Amino acid sequence: MTKEQLLSLIGDSGQEHILAFWNELNDAEKATLAEQIQSIDFSSVNSWVDGYVLNKPKQEIPADLTPADYFSIVPETEDVAALYENAVKVGEDLIADGKVALCTVAGGQGTRLGFDGPKGTYPTSIIKNKTLFQLFAEQVIGLQNKYETELKWYIMTSCINDTATREFFEANNYFGLKAENVFFFVQGLMPVFDQNGKILLASKGEIAMSPDGHGGTLLAMKKSGALQQMIDNGIEHLSYFQVDNPIASVISPLFVGLHHLEGAEVSARSLTKTGPFEKLGNFCMTEGKLAIIEYSDMPEELATLTDDSGKLAYRAGSPAIHVFRRSFIERVTDGEFSLPFHRADKKVAFVDASGTEVTPEENNAVKLETFIFDSLPLAKNPIILEAVREEEFAPVKNKTGVDSAESCREMMQEKAAKMLADAGVEVPRKEDGLLDCVLEISPASYLTADALKGVDAPVRGEENYYA
Ligand code: UTP
Repeated sequence: MTKEQLLSLIGDSGQEHILAFWNELNDAEKATLAEQIQSIDFSSVNSWVDGYVLNKPKQEIPADLTPADYFSIVPETEDVAALYENAVKVGEDLIADGKVALCTVAGGQGTRLGFDGPKGTYPTSIIKNKTLFQLFAEQVIGLQNKYETELKWYIMTSCINDTATREFFEANNYFGLKAENVFFFVQGLMPVFDQNGKILLASKGEIAMSPDGHGGTLLAMKKSGALQQMIDNGIEHLSYFQVDNPIASVISPLFVGLHHLEGAEVSARSLTKTGPFEKLGNFCMTEGKLAIIEYSDMPEELATLTDDSGKLAYRAGSPAIHVFRRSFIERVTDGEFSLPFHRADKKVAFVDASGTEVTPEENNAVKLETFIFDSLPLAKNPIILEAVREEEFAPVKNKTGVDSAESCREMMQEKAAKMLADAGVEVPRKEDGLLDCVLEISPASYLTADALKGVDAPVRGEENYYA
């Protein structure tokens, strides 16, 4: 493409500066920049800049907001207990019949973790150093063995980590899965803006771009053919989880069964928040629809509100675990479909107008992302099922401290300890109750019936791995 053709694509969006160094680029660099420019919807740039960059959108809290109801994980009545029992059977049948696929969103940049490579390739388990992808793959193998079936696994990547992700699976022989059952699909990218609404250049010949958020999943499934493949394979439900939560059940029979029986288009797991300000989205109802209000948007008086039983009224927080009915994805992506953007202020290195590379010390850039939970209000009959935190949520977000690899390893060990204890195996603990051994269980084995019954007890003070 010529410079003139590219300028006409840029139109009146006020972003011509992205071609400032055009004459200094070689042919390959020109081709790359031209491709990036063609991928951007310049007709929307002015509205993005006005709506999200120059003006920070303030989330209005609807006057009719109420906490959303959820199914408690411990059934409160006999009827609910019977419903759960049936749901488990229904869920197991759906899995065995190959009607449930998995979806892992792995397109993020993992900036907080600061790891060089796709987050899914981060070594996480405490003894074997298994990566996040391997831990999920082993769960899939466990389910396949348990239900004598084959499962399809959809993994969302972004241009930034797609090749590295595919190569990682190839190099590791898909961790024992069949390559044809693992389907990678690439999400969209958005340009990164400076705080004045100008698109940033990462180098003289490259626009700074970032993934368009996990909200890009549904459209990317449609565009990539993943959705069509689900249709062709008779898959009815998609079990969705994030790549950085290795203890999430890749498919929960109870959850998928309940979602199916209740006729839900989208379902969500919830966690009981540890306190009013825990950094989880809040499940709410407004205008008869389920919605999530981000923790940062929740007014203090609502966050701290208590109900008649003295519990936090808005205690149901989101660990970003969902089931989507395939027909819902088909319905919403048929025609115009968009989710609102959320703005994130970040530090992004760039090339300034003089061509000098700048590494900022303060936030200088605005990234725009859509969030998957904004699809909840579009869903008919959505349900929420509470999850036991220790069994389902140990995110790896940060290098150390809260929600880090460190805290995740501790929780993985506690989950392993509980499984062993449930199987009647004595687990050594110190006087203060902390584990007195190092524990790891292969997810492949803990999903296979009775795998842990009768195993040797962990040796005090030693590493104990259960394959
Ligand atoms: P986070 O919001 O934690 O973002 O993503 P992140 O990119 O992994 O990490 P930071 O914020 O840069 O430190 C939650 C989940 O959503 C996926 C991530 O891969 C992770 O599984 N995600 C996020 C995407 O797939 N695409 C995106 O554009 C953003």
